Amino acid sequence: MDGRELVRSVRVVRTVGPVQGLRSVRAAWRRRRADARAFGRQEAERARVPGTATRAEPRPGGGLIRFARSSLRVRVAAGGAVFCGWDGAGPEPSYALAGACPEADPRAVLEPDTEGGWRVVSERVLVAVSRHGAVEVRTPGGVTLRRELPPRWWDRTGPGDAPPEGGGASRWVQRSEVAADARVFGLGGRAGGPRLRDGTYRLWNTDPGGAFGPGDDPLSLTMPVQVVVADAGTHLIFHDNSWDGRVTLREGTEGAGSGHDRPGTCEVRMDGGPLRYWVLLGAPSRVLQGWTALTGAPALPPRWALRYQHARWGFGSQEEVRRVVAGYRERELPLSAVHLDIDHFDGHRVFTVDREQFPDLPGLARELRADGVRLVSIVDPAVKAQPGDAVYEGGAAADAFVRDASGHTVRGVVWPGESVYPDFTDARVRKWWGGLYAERLAQGFSGFWHDMNEPVSFTVFGDPTLPRSARHAVEGRGGDHREAHNVYGLAMARAGYEGLCELRPEERPFLFSRSGWAGLQRYGGTWSGDVATGWPGLRASLSLVLGLGLCGVPYSGPDIGGFSGEPSPELYLRWFQLGAYLPLFRTHSAVSAGRREPWEFGSEVLEHARTALSERERLLPYFHTLGQLARLTGAPYVRPVWWNAPRDRELRDCEDAFLLGDGLLVAPVLEEGVRRRAVRLPRGRWYDTATGRAYDGPGQVVVEAPLSRIPVLARGGAVLPVTGADGATELEVWAPGAGRRGGGVVVPDAGDGWRRPEVERFTSVLEDGAVVVARQNGGAVGYPVRVRGVDA
Ligand code: GLC
Repeated sequence: MDGRELVRSVRVVRTVGPVQGLRSVRAAWRRRRADARAFGRQEAERARVPGTATRAEPRPGGGLIRFARSSLRVRVAAGGAVFCGWDGAGPEPSYALAGACPEADPRAVLEPDTEGGWRVVSERVLVAVSRHGAVEVRTPGGVTLRRELPPRWWDRTGPGDAPPEGGGASRWVQRSEVAADARVFGLGGRAGGPRLRDGTYRLWNTDPGGAFGPGDDPLSLTMPVQVVVADAGTHLIFHDNSWDGRVTLREGTEGAGSGHDRPGTCEVRMDGGPLRYWVLLGAPSRVLQGWTALTGAPALPPRWALRYQHARWGFGSQEEVRRVVAGYRERELPLSAVHLDIDHFDGHRVFTVDREQFPDLPGLARELRADGVRLVSIVDPAVKAQPGDAVYEGGAAADAFVRDASGHTVRGVVWPGESVYPDFTDARVRKWWGGLYAERLAQGFSGFWHDMNEPVSFTVFGDPTLPRSARHAVEGRGGDHREAHNVYGLAMARAGYEGLCELRPEERPFLFSRSGWAGLQRYGGTWSGDVATGWPGLRASLSLVLGLGLCGVPYSGPDIGGFSGEPSPELYLRWFQLGAYLPLFRTHSAVSAGRREPWEFGSEVLEHARTALSERERLLPYFHTLGQLARLTGAPYVRPVWWNAPRDRELRDCEDAFLLGDGLLVAPVLEEGVRRRAVRLPRGRWYDTATGRAYDGPGQVVVEAPLSRIPVLARGGAVLPVTGADGATELEVWAPGAGRRGGGVVVPDAGDGWRRPEVERFTSVLEDGAVVVARQNGGAVGYPVRVRGVDA
């Protein structure tokens, strides 16, 4: 047992009590035995490299290059995305892809290159493959963005056997080089980012087993997606492989003009699965557009999910829910939803209700709804293994639960005790599970919060999940937990989403999920998980949202105030102020933690929280527009400050601020006692929205950050849809700098159904000292306009 395991075992016993603790010891032994039986003794492995290229055949979008001991397929898609697959791996099947693999670029051609290599030339990208299997991805201008060295496999097949088609149980490693000045972001939700510094990052969705901070890795939502930003250009690389793996990053160093740059390096090491990857290049906005074209448009949350929400583990009764909601109402604080955690279940069993403490949930839901407040339900995947439990019986009858290699149902330990796990990688099981949300809808719930879906089995030692040998359907192909683990939460999200679409076809589902993988955005968003209360946790919250957005999952946010413990009033307030500018704006905490209602921290905090809440309400049309733009273009609401200027190195290294859409720059306070802070500005004019003072970027300025607010700057020329005093949308327009133009987009609310809204574009320009706003394609502006940033 290592240190982390020891800490976890203490936590397990503390959270679940001695009886469950004992059960989890038994489950851990069972897991270990199952794996030992299934995998037996470690087989001998044989290392392999591709060898030399022997010939190449043109194929749509590129070609197939044969090597002595492998083959490489290069295929450029019509939009410019590059696919490379070794050992016969093709782009499909894939859990990440949204639909059919994109069409090949008909104009991409395979040509012989120098020294026995080959290259695929297309309008948007050039891929050069050396004789030994190194692959370079270059811009059309010939600049190399990434150089992959020849990969190496460790085959578990006997000597002389052919390499497994499409990859399989072979481990592999691939090293690559990027520019010396490159910065890497992504890999899913990482607490220690957003810039991923030198180190090893694991690709294995993991419940850290207690509240986490910046030093904890991995967390619940990992994915092999890296966004690499360098002077030479931006690219995204996605290794489409769901197995356990490790990515080791090392930033490069520049030789100060001596020509002796040391490149940045990246090593991807996987325990199995295909060696295949996609590379997308271009401006960050183009890269994300290409990425979401490949993996699916982000689901659009209903409008109410863009407002403030309150969660708590341990409301304990419907009276307490009423009391808390009344607290908001009496203080005239806006509230759009209350989230009920596992304590409203009967004995923590999913899809049940504790009828004693919550005797009339539908009634409560109706009553709250009349007040504009919705109910959101937690949904855990594990089902208590208890004869008589309707979900257990139904699942058993449908043969829905994961089995081990010898055919026995796998049991783990989660909140309700000994539990079994639906196999969401089976379409049949997804359908069954999706139907269960009918019970939740009947109870009056409007949204769903998927949790514990890494999936978790509490353990005192080893991995807190299912045995690696557990069997999964993997869409009929058959496989084990090594392959299915990382896509378990993703497939559960699909089950919930598709079920809800069928059950309530007129409304867009609202769900967010702790675990997931590439493509999660198709079904919903995510949240931080159990971020530890403390200033480092606050910083980690921002890192997670930024990193996830760059991986295509735009809707997320932290447990405001932190999951554990009691934040100081100042920490709570700073967290609340940050949360007000993040897509998921939600307070939440553990059953044993302190309260998170804004009035629990004294009158000063309450008044400043009120300001943050009313600013969020004012910005609602803007948030709604950003959600629509995320769906249409893949651009996240929350973007790194380098989004429009990836070549600005100072911005690349700026981790304590973000752009909210194109128009606003938010500079949260992440340290105790800070009342002024430095803000690094991108090029152009920026206005401190509180003081109206103008600054010209690029450069660093120091702005006031009193306890009452965090600094928010508006881009000169920005046209922002906001809620006016009468509740209708108006345009807030920030004066463009002299000689500059500006603009913005408005996507009006089209309800919570599926109606496709209009996209309205506006321009702004300074003419003779006055700001002129126009609709891009002519016609009346159609909204009241309020100009800011011009001296009257
Ligand atoms: C997990 C979740 C947390 C939830 C708790 C009880 O720790 O991350 O949000 O409150 O389980 O369901």
